[in-house]
Amino acid sequence: MTAAMLTLAVALAVINIIRIQAEVYSSFAHLERSLQAEQSLAKDIKDYIKQEKVRLEKLERAAEEYEQHSKAALANSESFMGNPINAYLFMKRFTTDWADLSHLLQEDHSYDLLANFEEIRNKGFLPQLVDLQGAAAALMRLQDTYNLNTSEIASGILQGVKRSPGLSAFDCFYFGKYAYNQSDYYHTLLWMQEALNRLPFEPDSPIDRITILDYLTFATFKQGNVRHALLLANEMLQIDPENERALQNKRYFLSNLEESDQPMTIENKRPHRGVRDEEYENYEKLCRGDSIKPFKTPKRTHKLTCSYETNKSPNLLLRPFKVEVLYHSPKIVMWHDVLSEVEMKKVKELATPRLNRATVHNPVTGKLEFAEYRVSKSVFLDSDIDPVVEVISQRIADITGLDMSTAEGLQVANYGMGGQYEPHFDFARRRETHAFSDAIGNRIATVLFYMTDVEAGGATVFPKLGVKVFPKKGSAAFWYNLRRSGIGDYRTRHAACPVLSGAKWVCNKWLHERGQELRRTCSTNPKE
Ligand SMILES: *[C@@H]1O[C@H](CO)[C@@H](O)[C@H](O)[C@H]1NC(C)=O
Ligand SMILES: *[C@@H]1O[C@H](CO)[C@@H](O)[C@H](O)[C@H]1NC(C)=O
Repeated sequence: MTAAMLTLAVALAVINIIRIQAEVYSSFAHLERSLQAEQSLAKDIKDYIKQEKVRLEKLERAAEEYEQHSKAALANSESFMGNPINAYLFMKRFTTDWADLSHLLQEDHSYDLLANFEEIRNKGFLPQLVDLQGAAAALMRLQDTYNLNTSEIASGILQGVKRSPGLSAFDCFYFGKYAYNQSDYYHTLLWMQEALNRLPFEPDSPIDRITILDYLTFATFKQGNVRHALLLANEMLQIDPENERALQNKRYFLSNLEESDQPMTIENKRPHRGVRDEEYENYEKLCRGDSIKPFKTPKRTHKLTCSYETNKSPNLLLRPFKVEVLYHSPKIVMWHDVLSEVEMKKVKELATPRLNRATVHNPVTGKLEFAEYRVSKSVFLDSDIDPVVEVISQRIADITGLDMSTAEGLQVANYGMGGQYEPHFDFARRRETHAFSDAIGNRIATVLFYMTDVEAGGATVFPKLGVKVFPKKGSAAFWYNLRRSGIGDYRTRHAACPVLSGAKWVCNKWLHERGQELRRTCSTNPKE
């Protein structure tokens, strides 16, 4: 299209020359004026070409960025998109960045290209603005759970390891703005401050200092630090002495300060989200890998051990399994290397097309809806789908000595960015009388297989016991949910910590009471 425009420009120039020649015959007096017109035309064409070059260079850079990004991401798409910063940057490309790009294409009437793109977009393959906001929300949740330092996140560092490219001042501003929209002034303050810190290193940033300062002033005031807010308002006035909002704020802050005698530093306090009880705090601590004071002093005087076991099963005589005891009462153990690479690959393959798309909470409308980023997806695989499902079931029978005929199908779950499962019990409580039929009874035990090593986060934790299990590919956690009396063991309350970075695949099997009568003997002692 550049070529077409150029042809037209050249044609115009030729016509002009013909006109000049015509005038040459009628009046030499106008010759000079005509030659000047020619000169100015040449300049216009050159300017036009220059502008086009800039535009094309921008487009070329965008195309190259897209190409390189998709290449890197496709090489390992799951773990790539499992990084919250990568996910955010990817979504940004098709939302806020896209507006600029489509503008560049529109300028040149590249409607075919645009129409093509809109078609892909309408098919729902590409992230939307709600996904971008979801990514911002997920990142802030992770920031809280894992106590992440804002400037480290902005540098692409999660838990001390650089795992992605960094964020720009504008990205930090976007997070701050998102938090501000949610009236979350704690995060507004953190992210606006980070935007401000980054701005001096980015001369071409689309965001300016005074806009950031404006939000920062407000958030600082809202978080209770009036003195600091006043300093920020003054800083705005240094840049723009006429700034109406800054002048207003300054007056307001000054009158506020006269009334109270507030100290300079006040903590930027994280707001409580919903019920933040002791259990929730312990859950988050364990997720971070910290230890907690258990609620009751456990009988942890026994040594925690590792051993090879066969459980007298002929199938295991040649290949005994490795057991690590994680907790004694209730007993929680880890079986190591119980699933093979081939088995795990097969299970993921079987599950992938069948995974149910999870709904997510839309932070804007408050409704549950689908989003391109996912928290978790899962599916139950029955034994008849493939021999591998039966092989895994048989292995559990060999190891535990329990009856598998009343067990549920193999549940496979895939957790994405920020994917988590807050504290819960696996067994049905007394009031949930219709949860399971009498023919199978309650969920007596849980086997949870890990099918990936998770880069960061994603532990299974037991907040009442202080036990944390970090995913290890090919290993499985096992515990009984019921006491021998059949009563639910409330100490087994557990949770899946949010995935901080990487992909998390697990599969689990719930074993039921019926069929175990001779294998795990009952007791009338409710505590046993
Ligand atoms: C965050 O990390 C930066 C750089 O590592 C450090 O200078 C800063 O003090 C940290 N902030 C907090 C609140 O720990
Ligand atoms: C904040 O809210 C405004 C107004 O509703 C909206 O236009 C903007 O996209 C929101 N920004 C973010 C980052 O969520």
